[in-house]
Amino acid sequence: MKGIILAGGTGSRLYPVTLITNKHLLPIYDRPMVTYAIEALVQAGVEEMMVVTGGTHAGEFLRLLGNGHAWGIDRLSYAYQEKAGGIAEALGLAERFAGGDSVCVFLADNIVERGIAASVRAFEASPEGARIVLSPVSEPEHLRHLGVPELSDGRVVRIVEKPEVPPSSYAVTGIYFYDSSVFEIIKTLVPSARGELEITDVNNAYVEAGRMAYDVLEGYWGDAGESIDAYYAVNDFVRRHGANQLG
Ligand code: DAU
Repeated sequence: MKGIILAGGTGSRLYPVTLITNKHLLPIYDRPMVTYAIEALVQAGVEEMMVVTGGTHAGEFLRLLGNGHAWGIDRLSYAYQEKAGGIAEALGLAERFAGGDSVCVFLADNIVERGIAASVRAFEASPEGARIVLSPVSEPEHLRHLGVPELSDGRVVRIVEKPEVPPSSYAVTGIYFYDSSVFEIIKTLVPSARGELEITDVNNAYVEAGRMAYDVLEGYWGDAGESIDAYYAVNDFVRRHGANQLG
């Protein structure tokens, strides 16, 4: 399995801070945000990775990560997204890197308390279709800023992006597993109302084909890019409790 870390986008919800740097280079406690996604993947045994980024500060990723060896990455590749055309567009840039293998996609603003090893093992055991990782979220107001699954009989029935009325009390985290057909699905997408190729449309294609599984994450999950308050909440959590604790 190959890892794909998505670190593009504009970070507009954190303006003006992200006018002068890339969101994923901002610190979470004592190190840059993107390094937590890398650590989670390396701990789970994923040694070959691509970082997709964009904007005016892309060169800083090279300065931070170099060839990846200091971060435990065996082989590190980079791709450049020319405009913030959406998560699925960014993922599409990794098609040749994936080279027919299954992939774990990790949004670089997501932070987990206990790592992702269990989900990596589950997808490696059955690397067909797709697998999403859910996290319980109780506040409807919070869920309105996320992707939310509707669940029935232990299956995902559909996923609604930024729902007015959340269909469950789970968030779809930014950790996704796909087989190689994901790149064909991306080619069929049309931009959403906000002009982006949406990862939720990719996931719903797998749901409709009956090829979507899910895990519920143990421990804390945070999206540090959601708002400046979320950014500080994630910082506070990591400073007190750490991240990627169980590998
Ligand atoms: O964090 C989990 C949520 O992430 C999910 O619940 C949602 O279903 C999913 O759509 C996504 O929502 P966000 O509104 O948080 O997505 P955002 O636009 O903030 O993008 C998340 C990351 O994806 C961002 O940190 C970098 C990467 N990205 C995003 C865009 C729009 C790119 O690499 N390129 C892009 O063009």
